[in-house]
Amino acid sequence: MPKHLLHTAAITAAVVLSAVLPTASAQETIHYSPATHVFRIDTPAVTYALGVNAQGDLQAIYWGAPIAPADPVPMPARHAEVASFDGPTTVTPFEYPGWGSVDYTEPALKITFPDGNRDLVLHYLSHTIAADNLKITMKDISRDVFVDLIYTVDPATGVIGRSSVITNRTKEPLTIEQAASATWNLPHGSDYTLRYLTGRWAGEDHLQTQKIAPGTTVLESRRGSTGHQNNPWFAIERGATPNPDEDSGEVWFGALAWSGNWRITVEKNQVEDIRVTGGYNPFDFAYPLAPGATLATPAFYAGYSGHGIGEASRILHRFELTQILPQKPAPRPRPVIYNSWEATEFAVDEPGQTALAEKAASIGVERFVMDDGWFGARNSDHAGLGDWYVNPQKFPHGLKPLIDKVHALHMDFGLWVEPEMVNPDSDLYRAHPDWVLNFTGRPRTQARNQLVLNLARPDVRAYVFGFLDKLLTENDIAFLKWDYNRNWAEPGWPALGPDSNQQKTVYVQYIRNLYSILAELRAKHPAVEIESCSGGGGRVDLGILGLTDEVWPSDNTDPFDRLSIQDGFSYAYSPGVMMAWVTDSPGWLNQRTTSLAYRFLSSMQGSLGVGANLNHWTDADFATAKDLIAAYKSVRETVQHGSLYRLISPRGFGETGGSENSATESVSPDRTQAVLFTFLHSSTMGYPYPQVYLKGLDPAKQYRIISIYGTLAKDTPETASGAYWMHHGLTPDLTGDFKAAAFKFEVR
Ligand code: GLA
Repeated sequence: MPKHLLHTAAITAAVVLSAVLPTASAQETIHYSPATHVFRIDTPAVTYALGVNAQGDLQAIYWGAPIAPADPVPMPARHAEVASFDGPTTVTPFEYPGWGSVDYTEPALKITFPDGNRDLVLHYLSHTIAADNLKITMKDISRDVFVDLIYTVDPATGVIGRSSVITNRTKEPLTIEQAASATWNLPHGSDYTLRYLTGRWAGEDHLQTQKIAPGTTVLESRRGSTGHQNNPWFAIERGATPNPDEDSGEVWFGALAWSGNWRITVEKNQVEDIRVTGGYNPFDFAYPLAPGATLATPAFYAGYSGHGIGEASRILHRFELTQILPQKPAPRPRPVIYNSWEATEFAVDEPGQTALAEKAASIGVERFVMDDGWFGARNSDHAGLGDWYVNPQKFPHGLKPLIDKVHALHMDFGLWVEPEMVNPDSDLYRAHPDWVLNFTGRPRTQARNQLVLNLARPDVRAYVFGFLDKLLTENDIAFLKWDYNRNWAEPGWPALGPDSNQQKTVYVQYIRNLYSILAELRAKHPAVEIESCSGGGGRVDLGILGLTDEVWPSDNTDPFDRLSIQDGFSYAYSPGVMMAWVTDSPGWLNQRTTSLAYRFLSSMQGSLGVGANLNHWTDADFATAKDLIAAYKSVRETVQHGSLYRLISPRGFGETGGSENSATESVSPDRTQAVLFTFLHSSTMGYPYPQVYLKGLDPAKQYRIISIYGTLAKDTPETASGAYWMHHGLTPDLTGDFKAAAFKFEVR
């Protein structure tokens, strides 16, 4: 029994003590009561409590709406045995369960020792509290395996970050087979609904909704990176109907900060308790730990909203902007960019890019980005990846003349790179065929004619950092679009020898090196901003967002498809990181024809970019673009950093009764400005567009409505109170197919 429990052996299963906090001041976020062994995290939005039970286990107690510091938070006893099949440890809501004793639920940690023992029972040992950070150390009941549970608290949002550090202080090596960042136990209850995001290339961020039934739902990536297929985010709502209510209901949500193989399980056990476990994906996982060595898990952040999933999203957005992004707590607004990928693909050269830059500057673009094709023998996706020297045919005088021209046009310059990949047809691969992920003697499966460099290798890490550092040192580059255009295959690391467990450390070490390269580049080149792209939204998570300033949500730039992709994206991620380009019509993917204004308004819901072929634009197109870019600049702080309200959701089109129309509203933090985007799919049977009711305004203030694009029903007042716009609402004058209108509201 841990030392601190010796004098409290009187805490028995039947005794329930209250966690009144005699010494804690009201301002402290984290309290520990030595009398009851209960830890409490109290923020204005959330109370979270856990404690040490009579057996020495760390057990979850409460997570939800804030309760008064003086309220009792009893340390519950372990459940009694109800049957030999359902012993107490099978149903105890452990805070971080080791796999051992009797527990059939998802363990947070599973270890194999060299003597064949695989039993691990973690008990509380000690803790430290420093400001908004809590560290609880646990230890196996007999072996010197120590686990630090790290809690970080953001008092402003109530978001708690959890991770663990596992240390082997035995004299023998051991192997970690499963390591989660955290187990989150939900309050006991029924009628829970799970929401999560699924997708594929060009079809990211579909919101899925399902009742949580007994059993386990597994969200994961086995692809080596975050992946398009699932995103490491969840939200669980109590008492939800099939269509989520944006503004009411209790919601517990979380996001994992890891860009490699990850897994989140949502499990309802035999007594119908729900727990969410997330961290490294245990599939094909092993991490040998030598004596004295440690393994740290990524952070798993989670929060609570008592006001529906709309508020849950706004909490996460705010948390990302103030706590995660590299420019936290006040990221600079994203500049309006131009990118020529859809216009030119690989056919980039100095005259062509210069001509596009001139046109881009004329409409108010602030950053000109040259995409793929500028380096090596890169004339298609068949060759050149890995050879990061400027292509001498396309740019005979290097990048400088183009960069100078872009600067003369008052834009900064950005460049596309795909550092982790190599085409077999490249000088790099010919020189270092052993640098890619592979199993000796097995096929090396290509995707998009490329292989994945094993970034876990120190020599590959040095090469990748070296060329990027050189590129940024020798050229005045403000922005990198960092791409990653395939998933892993044959993830071997033969240089480590035949021990497959050693080779499996690639899953951790690769991503660590990716993060460390990004961190080192940012430290050395602090003015450079970076976008995370992976064939669209294949690498969007809170881990990469700690090191990049924005993401490319999808290669699908169809403005109608984007409305639902952007809607799904917004459940987990801030519009401030969501790059969105205006491209050509008909679009390459769906061959859908839409007006330039419709395309602009769709992209203006995030960080605006232009990706159309400006050589084909008419004077009228340039005039429309110039007006709308100027209008965007007048609302972008609100769009990017304000509070987002999903007013009419395009989600569920054709499935769960959702609408084909879409409307979003963003409100500035001081509520003096709001911006409304409305989209009509198709008028039917002469029905007018639905009445739009604004949210989040100051009811007492007078707001003037100003058209960004489009008109309103004739009787709409020019100025009215926040209460009017929220309760009376307004009708945009939208008829036809694929029509859009946008308005801003400003306090007079
Ligand atoms: C990926 C990106 C695109 C573009 C191409 C270039 O598909 O998502 O935006 O950069 O690569 O090859």
